[in-house]
Amino acid sequence: MAERVALVTGGARGIGRAVAARLARDGFRVVIADRDAAQPDHPARCVQVDVADEAAVTALVGGIRAVEGRLDALVSNAGFMIRKPMRDLALAEWNAVLATNLTATFLLVRAAEAMLRTACGSVVTIASTRARQSEPDTECYAASKGGLVALTHALAMSLGPDVRANCVSPGWIHTKGEALRPEDHAQHPVGRVGMPEDIAGLVAWLAGPESGFVTGAEFISDGGMTRKMIYAE
Ligand SMILES: NC(=O)c1ccc[n+]([C@@H]2O[C@H](COP(=O)([O-])OP(=O)(O)OC[C@H]3O[C@@H](n4cnc5c(N)ncnc54)[C@H](O)[C@@H]3O)[C@@H](O)[C@H]2O)c1
Repeated sequence: MAERVALVTGGARGIGRAVAARLARDGFRVVIADRDAAQPDHPARCVQVDVADEAAVTALVGGIRAVEGRLDALVSNAGFMIRKPMRDLALAEWNAVLATNLTATFLLVRAAEAMLRTACGSVVTIASTRARQSEPDTECYAASKGGLVALTHALAMSLGPDVRANCVSPGWIHTKGEALRPEDHAQHPVGRVGMPEDIAGLVAWLAGPESGFVTGAEFISDGGMTRKMIYAE
């Protein structure tokens, strides 16, 4: 069988970096697309690109068509958060978060649809438990991730039966190097904060053939936090 090809956006750091490493280990030929330079410790072709930019996404996908010649897995992971009271949030900031966290997936899938169909491929989007629950001052991020969950199930309907599309919604994943206190771990029903590899394992399963009966689904990987009843004592 020809070597399968995976595109991972936001693969320079954090969850995307772990996903790229895991897919490379699983035998995929990996393309990492990130606006920052990536330095993976496994074979990969790294492209510096802003996935919110339509022309850049067209060029990125055209490059994969020309260089790798196929696309089996598209992991749309690039994303960021602006946390600000709404009264201080500029429209440009709102638009920037929506552009990367939501619109980029539309741009990527639209550009890659033919290759994904030919390969009977898989799309995996990375949303967030913040699609369904919130802290104050997170409107643009929550809206973008809620939109991404909905976009993913819509894609599953439009791209089937050739292509499956599923969403992973992580909870707290340790990607920013923040110092973790014992209570940060203990509040989770599984007893710990998540690691990028927790998400990478789930993405790898969704990208591979063993999840062949799964499409349009959202998988929450949050150590049980969204199942916790939190009334004060
Ligand atoms: N870490 C968490 O706790 C957590 C929880 C829920 C969801 N998520 C989501 O998981 C994804 C990855 O998060 P992370 O914690 O690894 O983030 P991170 O900041 O560590 O890494 C994100 C990567 O995406 C890249 N990126 C951002 N915008 C981009 C753009 N427009 N074009 C190209 N590259 C871009 C960044 O350069 C960076 O390398 C994001 O979508 C995030 O919203 C993270």
